Amino acid sequence: MKLVLGVGGGIAAYKAAELARALGERGCAVQVVMTDAAQQFITPLTFAALTQRKVITSLFSGQTSEETLASAVEHISVAQENEMLVVAPATADLLARFAHGLAGDFLTTMYLAFTGPVVLAPAMNTNMWNHPATRENLRILAERGHHIIEPGDGPLACGTVGPGRLAEPAVIADRVVSLGVAAASRDLDGETVLVTAGPTQELLDPVRYISNRSSGKMGYALAEAAARRGARVILVSGPVSLQAPAGVEVVRVRSAKEMRAAVFEHLEQATIIIKSAAVADYHLENVPKQKGKKTAARLSLELSPTPDILAEVGRVKGDRLLIGFAAETGDLLAEARRKMQTKNCDMVVGNLVNQEGIGFESEENEVSLVLSTGETVKLPRARKTEIAGKIFDQLLKLRLSLHAAR
Ligand code: CTP
Repeated sequence: MKLVLGVGGGIAAYKAAELARALGERGCAVQVVMTDAAQQFITPLTFAALTQRKVITSLFSGQTSEETLASAVEHISVAQENEMLVVAPATADLLARFAHGLAGDFLTTMYLAFTGPVVLAPAMNTNMWNHPATRENLRILAERGHHIIEPGDGPLACGTVGPGRLAEPAVIADRVVSLGVAAASRDLDGETVLVTAGPTQELLDPVRYISNRSSGKMGYALAEAAARRGARVILVSGPVSLQAPAGVEVVRVRSAKEMRAAVFEHLEQATIIIKSAAVADYHLENVPKQKGKKTAARLSLELSPTPDILAEVGRVKGDRLLIGFAAETGDLLAEARRKMQTKNCDMVVGNLVNQEGIGFESEENEVSLVLSTGETVKLPRARKTEIAGKIFDQLLKLRLSLHAAR
């Protein structure tokens, strides 16, 4: 894949060198474009050596008038020749300029002339990241369909601790490659995918609730993968702190009851339903209006079961493909098979949630897919975005074998 790597001016610019190398290792032809500020942090020579190509550093850069003229239209040819624009680190200033169409240098003019997929990997001070102006610019850019690779949490060069650290170069490179592959294949065109994600919260009083450790990352990765592959995606999301993926319709809910209502409202249109939400199994039927006081020495709660949304959908699903999740700490395959049968699913994605580094709250997962054809497919440990892609590959195969069996 031919891509442009735009490098913004931030401390993380040095990591862009590692990214250029990682992209090269994954078979990408990388054209680096640096902003003036980026050149204060790292020299073009580093990138030229890593990519074996001239690095673009300004809009008008020729020695002779002819060369200057050629460089003046170069942003258009670079935009036309490349399949993807990746910007890392995307500084607060670059995000603002992209969001508002300011085009005062090579990278920002090239951005306006570019029509392919755009991947932005922001890095900045935590307060700048949290500032309403940056949030608003990110919202505009996400709505425009750009892919935002969230910065990580941790100690920053400026001394603060929090979100703002550029995502790891290998993570950005893997994401870029999988986006490139997906952009080339739109095999979910015409499908409407309904995904549920995250935990539910069941109120105990106006301020307290029962919930679980689901982060919603797996469901959001599935929604994003489906949208990239051409599907219309409706994401019914419990309370999570994730940004809505580009091009996905998000319905926010809190409780199992609200999730059920949202699912049934959109069920008719759906051709594929993926229930990755970790729905709370019990709730308090009559939630008191007042906050409970610490008066009793012991407290017991009487809870009633929440509606089993997956089982209910299973009873009325018709031709739709229905995928359930089984979060287990014991016999994974037996439980996944049991859930597939009792809830009438076409596939159950089983994952262990008591292992370090995978499952709840993790970036990675390792799952086993139990299919209604009797097959079991083990997907080795990988990032949730990658697992999401493989789940859709298997689903499309499954649909073909179900049709053939009819
Ligand atoms: N699920 C649901 N509604 C519920 C509970 C679960 O739709 N009230 C769905 C989940 O979204 C998931 C699947 O059912 O796709 C399995 O969830 P899990 O909690 O693992 O299974 P349970 O049916 O609750 O079984 P158990 O708690 O006995 O393991």
